[in-house]
Amino acid sequence: MTRYATFAGVGSYLPERLVPNDWFESRVDTSDAWIRDRTGIEARHFVAEGETTSDLATEAARRALASAAIPAEQLDLIVCATVTGDTNFPSTAIWIQRKLGVSCPAYDVNAACSGYSYAASTGTAFVTSGMADTVLVIGAESFSRIIDFTDRGTCILFGDGAGATVLTAADAPGVEGSILGADASAAEILWMPVGGTREPTTHESLDAGAQYVRMPNGREVFKRAVTEMSAACRELLDKSGYAVDEVDVLIPHQANARIMSAVVDRLKIDPAKAIVDVAEVGNTSAASIPIALDRAWRRGAIHTGDLVLLTSFGAGLTWGATLVRWTMPEAS
Ligand code: ACO
Repeated sequence: MTRYATFAGVGSYLPERLVPNDWFESRVDTSDAWIRDRTGIEARHFVAEGETTSDLATEAARRALASAAIPAEQLDLIVCATVTGDTNFPSTAIWIQRKLGVSCPAYDVNAACSGYSYAASTGTAFVTSGMADTVLVIGAESFSRIIDFTDRGTCILFGDGAGATVLTAADAPGVEGSILGADASAAEILWMPVGGTREPTTHESLDAGAQYVRMPNGREVFKRAVTEMSAACRELLDKSGYAVDEVDVLIPHQANARIMSAVVDRLKIDPAKAIVDVAEVGNTSAASIPIALDRAWRRGAIHTGDLVLLTSFGAGLTWGATLVRWTMPEAS
């Protein structure tokens, strides 16, 4: 019998501190009206002093495990997508493993804002191959720790948070298919140039503020995000034998409302099917899809049997799409 992976649990966690747009008005030349108009973002959550990415991830994981009614001890693997981990090494998944008090293998995946797509594909492959029965797939970020708060082009975009999903083995989909893509030729349009072994942090680079996220061409990122997410969705639907109209729910990477609206236009999908959840969350990078998925399920916007299309885009450049037959019960 064919072995499939299915979504058995979902959970998310946003740190308590809510930072509204007007907080930035005294720091950079911007306005609440500009940010709302250009991004759809009204506020975002930032971690508190001492709060870490693994703290957010562990809380999201506990909620996902609770929704699946699966004890943490049952996990065979933890995969965490992040580019803002607690430490360069060990991985953030290791700190999550310690906090959950379990002993399964654990590692991180780095595909920036596409991280959840890459991590979910990894989890799916482990389950369908029989290497694991129960996999915790997490996207977790604390971008507030790597933002340049003097750069108005980037600092207003990002928020912190975590989303988690539990994948288990099933005899029917579940995950109907997924595709991933990458294009290294544009790596420098969205990156963190300093702090790795290529250019270790120095006093000079710190003084120049070079240790933060850099996005020298936001417009190009915007265009590529729209092109790649819509192409990935079309390719996956073709490959899986579905028409766009058969999709019940579309969850694009929650970068900003204009990017998502352009993806909806290109796909010619009913806008009411798209989950847009940036207003009080912002762009949480690898965490954005599982956070939006969890919040949509909990408010009753995803139903048992729905065909759910997830699509991501991020630094690398990287992108992905995952098609899921939703098998979880209705949220209570
Ligand atoms: N407040 C006020 N003005 C601003 C701000 C701000 N926060 N940021 C940029 N501007 C200014 C620019 O300096 C520019 O001014 P100028 O004309 O005097 O030079 C003007 O606004 C227009 O700049 P653009 O970059 O062309 O503005 P655009 O309308 O494209 O919006 C934005 C900028 C929101 C960054 C847009 O390019 C975008 O959404 N890009 C995608 C980037 C993104 O989402 N990155 C996240 C990571 S990747 C991902 O998640 C997909």
